[in-house]
Amino acid sequence: MSKSILTEIRPKLRSDIGVTYPKLSIIVAKSRNNVIGRDGDLPWRLSSDLKHFKRVTLGKPCLMGRVTWESLPFALPGRPNLVLTRDEGYAAKQAEIFHDMMDMIGRGFELAGQMNVDEVILMGGAQLYARLLPFCDKLYISDVDAVIDGDAHFPVISAFDWQLIREEMAPKSEKDDYPFTIREYLRKNST
Ligand SMILES: NC(=O)c1ccc[n+]([C@@H]2O[C@H](COP(=O)([O-])OP(=O)(O)OC[C@H]3O[C@@H](n4cnc5c(N)ncnc54)[C@H](OP(=O)(O)O)[C@@H]3O)[C@@H](O)[C@H]2O)c1
Repeated sequence: MSKSILTEIRPKLRSDIGVTYPKLSIIVAKSRNNVIGRDGDLPWRLSSDLKHFKRVTLGKPCLMGRVTWESLPFALPGRPNLVLTRDEGYAAKQAEIFHDMMDMIGRGFELAGQMNVDEVILMGGAQLYARLLPFCDKLYISDVDAVIDGDAHFPVISAFDWQLIREEMAPKSEKDDYPFTIREYLRKNST
């Protein structure tokens, strides 16, 4: 899979006002040592970050791996849920199932075009982040201010590739285990 192949499957949005294409954006919460999960679940309770997640993702196609899908208590409401698995017999009532990554991304772009939103969200987990980070245009990272034990990690991002465009501290509320900082990055020379 190359970046140009991804670019080719992006539909045009609002061609009446100019050519814009939906972005492929990652949203993730990670610890200082890049841990994102443990035993198939999140290794923390961060209510404020769940609110941030909802603000960013609502109304946008959400792509995820089968393990992340099974960690959710129910399908994310108000967002198409697209799930990737190699299991040809896998079924889920409130998600569209895919067995090929490009098919899932292509469908995400198609839905973004139909919904007239400017991004498709990749929401995990570790396997999908590792595979698709090189092809993503934008990152929403919640940097959790803690060192955590875990078995799922986010790749290290390079300052050569990513430009920080927004930073916001989220102090620890009584429903959060840790404080965190929301950082948004755009890929340098994004197509
Ligand atoms: N902190 C955060 O922001 C965040 C966000 C999301 C998830 N997480 C955490 O991350 C962990 C889950 O990550 P994970 O890496 O274990 O799992 P994952 O990426 O969610 O899902 C992996 C699964 O996706 C399917 N898959 C992967 N590549 C594929 C391909 N090329 N073609 C077809 N199917 C493919 C396979 O499903 P099958 O095995 O069914 O074939 C694979 O087992 C959990 O702990 C979760 O809580 C954290």
